[in-house]
Amino acid sequence: MRVLVIGSGGREHALALKISKSSLLDMLFIMPGNPGTKQVGENVKINPSHGDKTLQFCKDERIDLIVIGPEQPLVEGLSDYLRNEGFKVFGPSGKAAEIEAHKSFAKRLMKKYNIPTSDFAEFQSDEYDNALSYLKETGYPCVIKADGLAAGKGVLICKNFDQAEKAVKEIFLDKVFGSSGDKIVIEEFMEGEEASIFAITDGTDFICLPSSQDHKRIGNKDTGKNTGGMGAYSPAPVVTNEILSQVENKIIKPTLDGMNKEDCLFTGCLYVGLMITKDGPKVVEYNCRFGDPETQVVLPLLKGDFLKLLYSSAVGELDKNAVHYEDGCAVCVVAASKGYPDSYQKGFEIAGLDSNDKKIIVYHAGTDETDDKIITNGGRVLGVTAVLAENDLRKARNKAYEAINEIHFEGMYFRKDIAVKALNR
Ligand code: GLY
Repeated sequence: MRVLVIGSGGREHALALKISKSSLLDMLFIMPGNPGTKQVGENVKINPSHGDKTLQFCKDERIDLIVIGPEQPLVEGLSDYLRNEGFKVFGPSGKAAEIEAHKSFAKRLMKKYNIPTSDFAEFQSDEYDNALSYLKETGYPCVIKADGLAAGKGVLICKNFDQAEKAVKEIFLDKVFGSSGDKIVIEEFMEGEEASIFAITDGTDFICLPSSQDHKRIGNKDTGKNTGGMGAYSPAPVVTNEILSQVENKIIKPTLDGMNKEDCLFTGCLYVGLMITKDGPKVVEYNCRFGDPETQVVLPLLKGDFLKLLYSSAVGELDKNAVHYEDGCAVCVVAASKGYPDSYQKGFEIAGLDSNDKKIIVYHAGTDETDDKIITNGGRVLGVTAVLAENDLRKARNKAYEAINEIHFEGMYFRKDIAVKALNR
């Protein structure tokens, strides 16, 4: 098979690396990729948002499967465009990607199909006064979310009315999230521990990959601003077999059935962001693609042929036996640029990337190459990941931190408490 992966982050490095191990693979391209993906395939210097150039490339290279990593091209309908031209695509249609593109769509879906989640209300920007009246009556803390895409940053937890009023003002009047904040969703705050589940689906059948837990805040002990994710581990002990079975039966199955009934068949990876509450698992959010950095810890734990799984989803005949999890665990610590998730500088040389340790994978996320040097080129720069054959998160965590301590670039920042929650259970 000739495969094209679209994207350039740590998630796409993880997808490309896993696909590169498939016996079905003839040729792997990554568009546009990064210096990490270049080690496992051929990077293609085309901006995938130029649909016509992407299409021409797929025709010229006789691509058998296109795997779309990020949400933006999915929401913009790249998969529909390529499918209409006869290509096989892993990833949902633009219509089905609404499940991530608009939080209000997802919340209404959950309400209609009795999928466990928090209570909510939604307001347009011209309903400023109504939103404030609602916030005077609601309980605290509450969660205010920009309705549209905001790279994981559009979620504000408000402890009281003053904070909530400030948040609404910032979103509606100051437009801090641009048009993504033309509408807000106000949600009841859920107590519990978060976890992520990836369900690979052809729209009807699905399989769940090993559970994981992300660390969304910039600071240790979950403090400071939200980020795209500062580290992850898999499997997450909070997702017991009993919880997983509830997630499958009460959340994933009704979500896929509901999407079908709404004429939004969902294929690809349904990412379910969960809160494991005392009343069981509830949905925090859906995403229409693999998570980043969760993918970096989940994929190395899979045995079998991952490409076979992706292809089977794309052609609508899911092969539930293509991959399985036996044992093992992984911990990923993200090395970020000083200042992230706000503004940061780029272009610093990265040292210490030459480890030969077979248990360490250094995923490239925001990197670039110049004069044979690897330099920083983003907020989240690397995902330093330890993968063990046995499920010993303490050992994996120690290994990941040993490895990240060998790496250096100016202003490098990382959280010190990745996977601590799992050890404290
Ligand atoms: N790690 C969070 C996300 O991928 O949205």
